[in-house]
Amino acid sequence: MVPDEFDLDVVSDDMLTTDQHDFVAHWSRFYFGEIDALSRNTDAPVFRRAFLRLGTEILGHVATVKLNADVGLQSISAGGIDGLVIPLALVGRGFGGYLMDKAEDILFQELGVKVGLLFCFPETVQYFAARQWHVPQQPVSFLFRLKPPLSEMEPMVRFGAGVSLNSFPLHVRRSEALEPDM
Ligand SMILES: CC(C)(COP(=O)(O)OP(=O)(O)OC[C@H]1O[C@@H](n2cnc3c(N)ncnc32)[C@H](O)[C@@H]1OP(=O)(O)O)[C@@H](O)C(=O)NCCC(=O)NCCS
Repeated sequence: MVPDEFDLDVVSDDMLTTDQHDFVAHWSRFYFGEIDALSRNTDAPVFRRAFLRLGTEILGHVATVKLNADVGLQSISAGGIDGLVIPLALVGRGFGGYLMDKAEDILFQELGVKVGLLFCFPETVQYFAARQWHVPQQPVSFLFRLKPPLSEMEPMVRFGAGVSLNSFPLHVRRSEALEPDM
């Protein structure tokens, strides 16, 4: 639950303000190096971005993407969480948690995906593990392009309510319904 003094702005990419654009560009480069989250860490299209804001100050960002996944012979809806960033001076105040609450709500409630996927640094695996994400035991293959630094990060998954993948390998591909303009 986000305290009353904060606002959560949920926007699609075509509604980004200059301040929002610059925030994502700056902090993505700061944390992820050459990756520019605005040009997508993967070639999967952004569904919604959420920004935490206090007055005119942006306090954090997260993006959600729609994906598809194949589990064995079954195709299921999947979603990704991308570009979660909190400015360095503001970490540890719960802001990341507010944004993750929103991103998980978008994926598992609004979109109703069966499986969520994110990539994180090895040092933040515990952070996401505390939110019911886990490093998958079975193989995960990605059928979309990963930019090089991202491919060195840990994939983590979280399943929707009542979903069990048993021991099937998981193949994740980008959403065909949201094929970006080439
Ligand atoms: C990871 C990140 C998003 C966390 O955001 P944050 O606002 O600092 O996190 P919160 O304040 O919501 O943390 C909530 C809890 O997680 C814990 N936590 C934070 N970072 C952690 C870490 N790296 N490992 C383990 N626990 C961690 C906090 O101690 C806190 O626990 P508590 O509630 O018991 O006190 C932020 O540190 C960040 O922007 N990091 C750089 C970018 C990044 O790694 N993004 C994630 C990959 S996409």
